[in-house]
Amino acid sequence: MDSDVLTRADQAPAAPAPSTADPLWWRSAVIYQVYVRSFADGNGDGTGDLAGVRARLGYLKDLGVDAIWFNPWYPSPLADGGYDVQDYRDIDPRFGTLAEAEALIAEALELGIRTIIDVVPNHISDQHPWFQEALAAGPGSPARERFWFHPGKGENGDEIPTHWVSSFQGETWTRTTNPDGTPGEWYLHMFTPEQPDLNWNHPDVRREHEDILRFWFDRGVAGVRIDSAALLIKDADLPEVGEKPDHPTEDRDELHDVYRSWRAIADSYPGTRVLVGEIWVPDIDRFTAYLRPDEMHTAFNFDFLARPWGAASFRESISATLAAHAPVGAPSTWVLSNHDVTRPVTRYGREDTAFAFLRKRFGVPTDPQLGLHRARAAALLVAALPGSLYIYQGDELGLPEVEDLPLDLIEDPMHFRSGGTDPGRDGCRVPLPWAGSSAPFGFGRDGSAPWLPQPAGWSGLTVEAQAADPDSTLSLYREALRLRRALPALGDGPLEWWDDAAPAASDVLAFRRGDDFACVVNTGDDPAALPAGADLLLSSSPLEHGALAGNATAWLRIGAATDPHPTAHTTEAPAPRG
Ligand code: NOJ
Repeated sequence: MDSDVLTRADQAPAAPAPSTADPLWWRSAVIYQVYVRSFADGNGDGTGDLAGVRARLGYLKDLGVDAIWFNPWYPSPLADGGYDVQDYRDIDPRFGTLAEAEALIAEALELGIRTIIDVVPNHISDQHPWFQEALAAGPGSPARERFWFHPGKGENGDEIPTHWVSSFQGETWTRTTNPDGTPGEWYLHMFTPEQPDLNWNHPDVRREHEDILRFWFDRGVAGVRIDSAALLIKDADLPEVGEKPDHPTEDRDELHDVYRSWRAIADSYPGTRVLVGEIWVPDIDRFTAYLRPDEMHTAFNFDFLARPWGAASFRESISATLAAHAPVGAPSTWVLSNHDVTRPVTRYGREDTAFAFLRKRFGVPTDPQLGLHRARAAALLVAALPGSLYIYQGDELGLPEVEDLPLDLIEDPMHFRSGGTDPGRDGCRVPLPWAGSSAPFGFGRDGSAPWLPQPAGWSGLTVEAQAADPDSTLSLYREALRLRRALPALGDGPLEWWDDAAPAASDVLAFRRGDDFACVVNTGDDPAALPAGADLLLSSSPLEHGALAGNATAWLRIGAATDPHPTAHTTEAPAPRG
């Protein structure tokens, strides 16, 4: 490369330690998602646990995260990976004990890492004492009023009360059997029958969840991720979808009062305790209405991960997201994946790179090399955007989706409820590879079989292998998070599109943050010239003769001497004369 065009910044700024006293920490936090069952197995039984997490806190500290979000860790029959909670005031014995959770919260905080827990207010486990009581108490009992029990339609009551469709596909009502063996009422479950929906018009339901928040805030958690947050309230008239102007089960106006009361509880605690909504609402203004100053702090921005790979679609998503968040004063979140979504390495290597749950199928070809390049580029792109950043465990290792799990080991109900056409979500929940050259790759004790098998080819993807390799995806993430912490322009704050550096209608996306930071993303396959006179801070792929490689992102330090217009560059040596 021409050294006067672009130079590698040799003196990287020092990273200050995270301050646990910062009341605005959540506006730019890097939050690492731990799926406990698959993170690290401390006792060698094949299932991840809190002992495993405690032993790996140093890894998360070195990675540079500000907080951990734990998927549900409560006692649960695991009919939906723990999103079927049996008891909110304890820890699943497979994962550990409440005392261990308390110790973990405190130990993490000592390292400057906050804890966010998952609360699942739309439904509980059918094994929860409330539901068992309701079943036993029979029709018309007060215990049933905490749920949506309803007689069926038709002469014999054998027709379902509504045709609402589950996001897990299939029907949303299951018929009960009365204590005397006769067919009984139906109950509503927007997910599986093992997850009966709660009735949020009932004061017990509201009071119980407020107590659950206090239970965990009292134990020092810094925030709550709210599962299926836009589904809690149902139209009690049970209309079909489309019968009334508003939706009977989604995004109902009454929800906002619930979150206002939760916010008041969060605000009554010292430090900033945050509410993070899992909100799949397509209308972005209705989405950001949940982020008004007296409601949630932030919500997962899923629009970006659903977009196909490409400069135009990314820019449109980023612009719309930032514009919609500005009026409510909330920062956006950036999410490339989670425990529900096909891993980016696999998704971005496909012909159709957009993500949609109902389109998941077995056997869709992917190019893992291309996918990895793009996943690394996307990681640098989102890490440079304004707001908070979520990293799903294993994305920092560039793990692909495991698409060949033995069918008899799949546990995800999405697979079964699709009639077996949807592979489900277990492919992104395979236990992490930590070290060594064969399974369980340091996930648990040698000889123990992880609850889902790890591909033999993961030996090159272990933390151990990647930590020693400066070009690995783990090293890229570590460096990106170190720079993100060190550079004041990153995290919360404004973004300015840098159109001079990105030819119109090209595959290039460029933006600036602060006085001296720029991010350039090349979503095309051919190299793209970079602005002249900038320092290269970090790139997701090596530069090619001074140009940004295809499917790559660069972070630049820019200054008065930078010429934004991409320099003409030569990728080949000039042809010899004569
Ligand atoms: C969203 C969670 O992320 C997912 O894993 C779960 O299956 C559903 N909500 C139902 O709780």
